[in-house]
Amino acid sequence: EKAGYKHFMAKEIAEQPVVLADALKHYVADDGNSALQALDFSGVDRLTLVACGTAHYACHVAKYWFESLAGLPCDIDIASEFRYREPPLSDKGWALFVSQSGETADTLAALRYARDKVAKVLSVVNVPTSSIARESDLALPILAGVEVGVASTKAFTCQLAVLALMALKAGRDRGRLTAEEHATHIADFRLLPGLMNHALSLAPEIEKLAEQLAEAQDVLFLGRGQMYPLALEGALKLKEISYIHAEGYASGELKHGPIALIDSRVPVIVLAPRDHLFEKTVSNMQEVMARHGKVLLMSDAAGVTEAGAGCWRTLTLPKVPDVFAPILYAIPAQLLAYHTAIAKGTDVDQPRNLAKSVTVE
Ligand code: M6R
Repeated sequence: EKAGYKHFMAKEIAEQPVVLADALKHYVADDGNSALQALDFSGVDRLTLVACGTAHYACHVAKYWFESLAGLPCDIDIASEFRYREPPLSDKGWALFVSQSGETADTLAALRYARDKVAKVLSVVNVPTSSIARESDLALPILAGVEVGVASTKAFTCQLAVLALMALKAGRDRGRLTAEEHATHIADFRLLPGLMNHALSLAPEIEKLAEQLAEAQDVLFLGRGQMYPLALEGALKLKEISYIHAEGYASGELKHGPIALIDSRVPVIVLAPRDHLFEKTVSNMQEVMARHGKVLLMSDAAGVTEAGAGCWRTLTLPKVPDVFAPILYAIPAQLLAYHTAIAKGTDVDQPRNLAKSVTVE
Protein backbone atom coordinates (compact mmCIF):
# COMPACT_ATOMS: atom_id res chain seq x y z
CA GLU A 1 0.00 0.00 0.00
CA LYS A 2 2.91 2.30 0.69
CA ALA A 3 4.26 1.42 -2.75
CA GLY A 4 7.80 0.96 -1.49
CA TYR A 5 7.85 4.13 0.64
CA LYS A 6 8.59 3.97 4.36
CA HIS A 7 5.59 6.07 5.25
CA PHE A 8 2.31 7.12 3.70
CA MET A 9 3.40 10.70 4.16
CA ALA A 10 6.48 10.14 1.98
CA LYS A 11 4.35 8.47 -0.69
CA GLU A 12 1.79 11.26 -0.58
CA ILE A 13 4.44 13.98 -0.84
CA ALA A 14 5.95 12.19 -3.84
CA GLU A 15 2.58 11.81 -5.59
CA GLN A 16 1.97 15.53 -5.81
CA PRO A 17 3.21 16.21 -9.36
CA VAL A 18 0.96 13.43 -10.70
CA VAL A 19 -2.20 14.24 -8.77
CA LEU A 20 -1.83 17.95 -9.50
CA ALA A 21 -1.56 17.21 -13.22
CA ASP A 22 -4.71 15.05 -12.93
CA ALA A 23 -6.60 17.87 -11.24
CA LEU A 24 -5.55 20.26 -13.97
CA LYS A 25 -6.67 17.80 -16.65
CA HIS A 26 -10.06 17.51 -14.96
CA TYR A 27 -10.59 21.24 -14.64
CA VAL A 28 -9.00 22.55 -17.83
CA ALA A 29 -9.39 20.67 -21.09
CA ASP A 30 -6.72 20.86 -23.81
CA ASP A 31 -8.79 23.44 -25.68
CA GLY A 32 -8.74 25.65 -22.58
CA ASN A 33 -12.40 24.95 -21.69
CA SER A 34 -12.92 24.60 -17.98
CA ALA A 35 -15.09 22.34 -15.83
CA LEU A 36 -15.65 25.53 -13.83
CA GLN A 37 -17.73 26.95 -16.71
CA ALA A 38 -20.92 26.52 -14.68
CA LEU A 39 -19.68 28.97 -12.02
CA ASP A 40 -20.23 32.63 -12.86
CA PHE A 41 -18.49 34.93 -10.40
CA SER A 42 -19.61 38.18 -12.05
CA GLY A 43 -22.46 39.02 -9.64
CA VAL A 44 -20.82 37.79 -6.46
CA ASP A 45 -20.17 40.60 -3.98
CA ARG A 46 -18.20 38.65 -1.37
CA LEU A 47 -16.61 35.25 -1.02
CA THR A 48 -16.34 33.73 2.44
CA LEU A 49 -13.89 30.84 2.80
CA VAL A 50 -14.06 28.66 5.90
CA ALA A 51 -12.04 25.59 6.95
CA CYS A 52 -9.79 24.14 9.67
CA GLY A 53 -6.06 23.52 9.94
CA THR A 54 -4.20 23.04 6.71
CA ALA A 55 -7.38 23.48 4.66
CA HIS A 56 -7.75 26.90 6.30
CA TYR A 57 -4.24 27.84 5.18
CA ALA A 58 -5.25 26.88 1.63
CA CYS A 59 -8.15 29.37 2.00
CA HIS A 60 -5.70 31.96 3.30
CA VAL A 61 -3.54 31.65 0.18
CA ALA A 62 -6.69 31.74 -1.97
CA LYS A 63 -7.69 35.08 -0.44
CA TYR A 64 -4.60 36.66 -1.99
CA TRP A 65 -5.51 35.09 -5.35
CA PHE A 66 -9.21 36.03 -5.37
CA GLU A 67 -8.39 39.61 -4.36
CA SER A 68 -5.50 40.22 -6.75
CA LEU A 69 -6.60 38.15 -9.77
CA ALA A 70 -10.34 38.80 -9.56
CA GLY A 71 -10.85 41.89 -7.39
CA LEU A 72 -13.30 39.82 -5.35
CA PRO A 73 -13.70 40.86 -1.69
CA CYS A 74 -12.83 37.85 0.35
CA ASP A 75 -13.12 36.80 4.00
CA ILE A 76 -11.45 33.80 5.55
CA ASP A 77 -12.11 32.21 8.88
CA ILE A 78 -11.47 29.08 10.89
CA ALA A 79 -14.66 27.06 11.17
CA SER A 80 -14.70 26.76 14.98
CA GLU A 81 -14.78 30.57 15.30
CA PHE A 82 -17.01 31.29 12.31
CA ARG A 83 -19.80 28.97 13.46
CA TYR A 84 -20.37 30.73 16.78
CA ARG A 85 -19.55 34.29 15.82
CA GLU A 86 -22.82 35.01 14.04
CA PRO A 87 -21.05 36.62 11.08
CA PRO A 88 -23.42 38.60 8.85
CA LEU A 89 -23.30 37.24 5.28
CA SER A 90 -24.40 38.80 2.02
CA ASP A 91 -27.26 37.23 0.07
CA LYS A 92 -25.30 38.04 -3.08
CA GLY A 93 -22.24 36.36 -1.63
CA TRP A 94 -20.94 32.84 -1.90
CA ALA A 95 -19.56 30.70 0.91
CA LEU A 96 -16.84 28.15 0.20
CA PHE A 97 -15.87 25.32 2.56
CA VAL A 98 -12.61 23.47 2.09
CA SER A 99 -12.08 20.04 3.64
CA GLN A 100 -10.01 17.03 2.70
CA SER A 101 -12.26 14.57 4.55
CA GLY A 102 -15.50 16.48 4.06
CA GLU A 103 -16.45 15.33 7.57
CA THR A 104 -14.80 17.90 9.87
CA ALA A 105 -17.46 18.73 12.45
CA ASP A 106 -16.74 22.46 12.74
CA THR A 107 -16.55 22.96 8.97
CA LEU A 108 -19.85 21.11 8.49
CA ALA A 109 -21.52 23.21 11.19
CA ALA A 110 -20.15 26.38 9.57
CA LEU A 111 -21.63 25.27 6.25
CA ARG A 112 -25.03 24.69 7.86
CA TYR A 113 -24.88 28.16 9.44
CA ALA A 114 -24.16 29.78 6.06
CA ARG A 115 -26.55 27.74 3.94
CA ASP A 116 -29.63 29.96 3.94
CA LYS A 117 -27.70 33.24 4.21
CA VAL A 118 -25.72 33.24 0.95
CA ALA A 119 -26.54 32.83 -2.74
CA LYS A 120 -24.43 29.72 -3.17
CA VAL A 121 -22.66 27.19 -0.98
CA LEU A 122 -19.59 25.63 -2.56
CA SER A 123 -17.14 23.11 -1.27
CA VAL A 124 -13.69 21.91 -2.26
CA VAL A 125 -13.31 18.35 -1.00
CA ASN A 126 -11.28 15.21 -1.49
CA VAL A 127 -14.11 12.82 -0.63
CA PRO A 128 -16.97 13.47 -3.03
CA THR A 129 -19.45 11.35 -1.04
CA SER A 130 -18.76 13.22 2.22
CA SER A 131 -21.29 15.19 4.27
CA ILE A 132 -19.79 18.54 3.30
CA ALA A 133 -19.92 17.62 -0.40
CA ARG A 134 -23.50 16.39 -0.14
CA GLU A 135 -24.74 19.50 1.65
CA SER A 136 -23.17 21.96 -0.82
CA ASP A 137 -24.85 23.39 -3.91
CA LEU A 138 -21.72 22.41 -5.79
CA ALA A 139 -18.81 20.26 -4.58
CA LEU A 140 -15.54 20.57 -6.47
CA PRO A 141 -13.30 17.52 -6.08
CA ILE A 142 -9.57 18.00 -5.58
CA LEU A 143 -8.82 14.52 -7.02
CA ALA A 144 -5.83 13.94 -4.72
CA GLY A 145 -6.64 10.27 -4.13
CA VAL A 146 -6.83 8.74 -0.65
CA GLU A 147 -4.67 10.61 1.88
CA VAL A 148 -3.70 8.36 4.81
CA GLY A 149 -0.98 10.34 6.61
CA VAL A 150 -2.44 12.48 9.38
CA ALA A 151 -0.34 15.41 8.17
CA SER A 152 -2.07 16.73 5.09
CA THR A 153 0.27 17.10 2.10
CA LYS A 154 -1.10 16.30 -1.34
CA ALA A 155 -4.58 17.43 -0.30
CA PHE A 156 -3.14 20.88 0.49
CA THR A 157 -1.50 21.38 -2.91
CA CYS A 158 -4.55 20.00 -4.73
CA GLN A 159 -6.81 22.33 -2.72
CA LEU A 160 -4.54 25.19 -3.76
CA ALA A 161 -4.70 24.03 -7.38
CA VAL A 162 -8.51 24.03 -7.48
CA LEU A 163 -8.72 27.36 -5.63
CA ALA A 164 -6.20 28.94 -8.04
CA LEU A 165 -8.21 27.77 -11.05
CA MET A 166 -11.37 29.18 -9.44
CA ALA A 167 -9.66 32.52 -8.82
CA LEU A 168 -8.53 32.64 -12.45
CA LYS A 169 -12.10 31.89 -13.60
CA ALA A 170 -13.35 34.62 -11.28
CA GLY A 171 -10.78 36.97 -12.82
CA ARG A 172 -12.23 36.31 -16.28
CA ASP A 173 -15.85 36.60 -15.17
CA ARG A 174 -15.21 39.89 -13.41
CA GLY A 175 -13.26 41.44 -16.27
CA ARG A 176 -10.00 41.56 -14.33
CA LEU A 177 -8.15 39.18 -16.62
CA THR A 178 -8.18 39.20 -20.42
CA ALA A 179 -8.53 35.88 -22.23
CA GLU A 180 -4.85 36.17 -23.06
CA GLU A 181 -3.77 36.77 -19.47
CA HIS A 182 -5.93 33.86 -18.34
CA ALA A 183 -4.34 31.59 -20.95
CA THR A 184 -0.86 32.67 -19.82
CA HIS A 185 -1.67 31.74 -16.22
CA ILE A 186 -2.99 28.34 -17.32
CA ALA A 187 0.17 27.77 -19.36
CA ASP A 188 2.20 28.71 -16.27
CA PHE A 189 0.14 26.29 -14.20
CA ARG A 190 1.07 23.48 -16.59
CA LEU A 191 4.73 24.00 -15.58
CA LEU A 192 3.99 23.08 -11.98
CA PRO A 193 4.27 19.27 -12.09
CA GLY A 194 7.75 19.57 -13.62
CA LEU A 195 8.80 22.19 -11.07
CA MET A 196 7.42 20.03 -8.26
CA ASN A 197 9.53 17.11 -9.47
CA HIS A 198 12.55 19.37 -9.29
CA ALA A 199 11.62 20.38 -5.73
CA LEU A 200 11.23 16.70 -4.78
CA SER A 201 14.72 16.01 -6.08
CA LEU A 202 16.06 18.31 -3.34
CA ALA A 203 15.10 15.73 -0.71
CA PRO A 204 18.71 14.62 0.09
CA GLU A 205 19.71 18.27 0.70
CA ILE A 206 16.61 18.86 2.82
CA GLU A 207 17.35 15.70 4.81
CA LYS A 208 20.72 17.16 5.83
CA LEU A 209 19.09 20.43 6.89
CA ALA A 210 16.51 18.46 8.85
CA GLU A 211 19.17 16.65 10.85
CA GLN A 212 20.29 20.04 12.15
CA LEU A 213 16.77 21.36 12.57
CA ALA A 214 15.94 18.35 14.75
CA GLU A 215 18.18 19.87 17.47
CA ALA A 216 16.06 23.01 17.74
CA GLN A 217 13.61 23.78 20.54
CA ASP A 218 11.79 26.50 18.64
CA VAL A 219 11.59 27.36 14.96
CA LEU A 220 10.09 30.40 13.26
CA PHE A 221 8.77 30.47 9.70
CA LEU A 222 8.46 33.80 7.89
CA GLY A 223 6.68 34.72 4.67
CA ARG A 224 5.18 37.81 3.12
CA GLY A 225 2.10 38.20 0.92
CA GLN A 226 0.86 34.87 -0.40
CA MET A 227 3.87 33.19 1.24
CA TYR A 228 2.62 34.21 4.70
CA PRO A 229 0.05 31.39 4.85
CA LEU A 230 2.82 29.04 3.70
CA ALA A 231 4.84 30.09 6.74
CA LEU A 232 1.83 29.13 8.89
CA GLU A 233 1.49 25.81 7.09
CA GLY A 234 5.24 25.06 7.35
CA ALA A 235 5.08 25.66 11.10
CA LEU A 236 1.96 23.50 11.52
CA LYS A 237 3.52 20.63 9.59
CA LEU A 238 6.70 20.76 11.65
CA LYS A 239 5.00 20.89 15.04
CA GLU A 240 2.44 18.25 14.10
CA ILE A 241 4.90 15.48 13.27
CA SER A 242 8.24 16.43 14.90
CA TYR A 243 6.75 18.01 18.07
CA ILE A 244 9.15 20.92 17.75
CA HIS A 245 7.57 24.20 18.75
CA ALA A 246 7.15 26.25 15.58
CA GLU A 247 5.38 29.50 14.72
CA GLY A 248 4.62 31.12 11.39
CA TYR A 249 4.59 34.90 11.06
CA ALA A 250 4.09 37.49 8.38
CA SER A 251 7.62 38.85 7.87
CA GLY A 252 6.46 42.39 8.57
CA GLU A 253 5.09 41.40 11.98
CA LEU A 254 8.47 40.30 13.25
CA LYS A 255 9.39 43.62 14.80
CA HIS A 256 6.00 43.83 16.52
CA GLY A 257 6.95 41.15 19.01
CA PRO A 258 8.38 37.84 17.85
CA ILE A 259 11.84 39.29 17.18
CA ALA A 260 12.30 39.15 20.96
CA LEU A 261 12.56 35.37 20.61
CA ILE A 262 15.54 35.48 18.28
CA ASP A 263 18.92 34.28 19.46
CA SER A 264 21.61 32.01 18.06
CA ARG A 265 19.62 28.87 18.85
CA VAL A 266 16.47 29.75 16.92
CA PRO A 267 16.33 28.70 13.28
CA VAL A 268 14.25 31.11 11.18
CA ILE A 269 13.00 29.65 7.94
CA VAL A 270 12.29 32.31 5.33
CA LEU A 271 10.06 31.35 2.40
CA ALA A 272 10.85 33.99 -0.19
CA PRO A 273 10.82 33.55 -3.95
CA ARG A 274 12.45 36.48 -5.78
CA ASP A 275 9.15 38.35 -6.35
CA HIS A 276 8.09 41.99 -5.98
CA LEU A 277 8.10 41.66 -2.17
CA PHE A 278 11.51 40.05 -1.92
CA GLU A 279 13.43 43.18 -0.90
CA LYS A 280 11.06 43.77 2.00
CA THR A 281 11.47 40.21 3.26
CA VAL A 282 15.24 40.45 2.93
CA SER A 283 15.30 43.46 5.21
CA ASN A 284 13.33 41.47 7.82
CA MET A 285 15.80 38.63 7.37
CA GLN A 286 18.68 41.02 8.04
CA GLU A 287 17.03 42.08 11.27
CA VAL A 288 17.08 38.42 12.30
CA MET A 289 20.73 37.98 11.31
CA ALA A 290 21.72 41.13 13.21
CA ARG A 291 20.44 39.35 16.33
CA HIS A 292 22.39 36.18 15.50
CA GLY A 293 19.31 34.26 14.36
CA LYS A 294 20.06 31.26 12.13
CA VAL A 295 18.35 31.97 8.82
CA LEU A 296 17.45 29.21 6.40
CA LEU A 297 16.49 31.00 3.18
CA MET A 298 14.33 29.11 0.71
CA SER A 299 14.31 31.01 -2.57
CA ASP A 300 15.17 30.64 -6.25
CA ALA A 301 18.67 31.05 -7.69
CA ALA A 302 18.25 34.82 -8.13
CA GLY A 303 17.08 35.23 -4.53
CA VAL A 304 19.82 33.05 -3.07
CA THR A 305 22.49 34.90 -5.07
CA GLU A 306 21.15 38.25 -3.97
CA ALA A 307 20.49 37.57 -0.30
CA GLY A 308 22.10 34.25 0.62
CA ALA A 309 25.26 35.75 2.11
CA GLY A 310 25.24 35.57 5.89
CA CYS A 311 22.43 33.00 6.00
CA TRP A 312 22.93 29.89 8.11
CA ARG A 313 21.71 27.75 5.20
CA THR A 314 20.06 28.28 1.83
CA LEU A 315 17.89 26.04 -0.31
CA THR A 316 17.59 26.86 -4.00
CA LEU A 317 14.24 26.07 -5.58
CA PRO A 318 13.44 26.37 -9.25
CA LYS A 319 12.08 29.69 -10.50
CA VAL A 320 8.28 29.51 -10.51
CA PRO A 321 5.70 31.90 -12.01
CA ASP A 322 4.88 34.25 -9.09
CA VAL A 323 1.21 33.32 -8.69
CA PHE A 324 1.95 29.64 -8.16
CA ALA A 325 4.87 29.93 -5.73
CA PRO A 326 2.79 28.80 -2.71
CA ILE A 327 2.05 25.48 -4.44
CA LEU A 328 5.71 24.80 -5.16
CA TYR A 329 7.07 25.96 -1.78
CA ALA A 330 4.69 23.60 0.03
CA ILE A 331 6.96 20.74 -1.04
CA PRO A 332 10.19 21.77 0.72
CA ALA A 333 8.13 22.72 3.80
CA GLN A 334 6.60 19.22 3.86
CA LEU A 335 9.93 17.48 3.23
CA LEU A 336 11.60 19.49 5.95
CA ALA A 337 8.94 18.49 8.48
CA TYR A 338 9.05 14.87 7.32
CA HIS A 339 12.82 14.49 7.57
CA THR A 340 12.99 16.36 10.87
CA ALA A 341 10.42 13.95 12.30
CA ILE A 342 12.40 10.99 10.97
CA ALA A 343 15.56 12.39 12.59
CA LYS A 344 13.66 12.65 15.87
CA GLY A 345 12.17 9.18 15.53
CA THR A 346 8.54 10.21 15.91
CA ASP A 347 5.57 8.39 14.38
CA VAL A 348 5.23 10.34 11.14
CA ASP A 349 1.97 8.88 9.83
CA GLN A 350 0.19 8.74 13.16
CA PRO A 351 1.48 11.57 15.37
CA ARG A 352 0.44 11.57 19.01
CA ASN A 353 -2.90 13.05 20.00
CA LEU A 354 -4.08 13.61 16.42
CA ALA A 355 -6.83 12.08 14.28
CA LYS A 356 -7.01 12.20 10.50
CA SER A 357 -10.55 13.44 10.54
CA VAL A 358 -11.84 15.59 13.40
CA THR A 359 -15.51 14.67 13.60
CA VAL A 360 -16.07 16.09 17.08
CA GLU A 361 -15.77 19.75 17.98
O1 M6R B 1 -10.42 16.97 6.57
P1 M6R B 1 -10.16 18.44 6.74
O2 M6R B 1 -9.43 19.03 5.58
O3 M6R B 1 -11.44 19.20 7.01
O4 M6R B 1 -9.24 18.55 8.00
C1 M6R B 1 -8.87 19.82 8.49
C2 M6R B 1 -7.74 19.71 9.48
O5 M6R B 1 -8.11 18.88 10.56
C3 M6R B 1 -6.46 19.17 8.86
O6 M6R B 1 -6.04 19.92 7.77
C4 M6R B 1 -5.33 19.13 9.90
O7 M6R B 1 -4.95 20.43 10.25
C5 M6R B 1 -4.14 18.33 9.36
N1 M6R B 1 -3.71 17.37 10.34
C6 M6R B 1 -2.96 19.19 8.96
O8 M6R B 1 -1.87 18.47 8.53
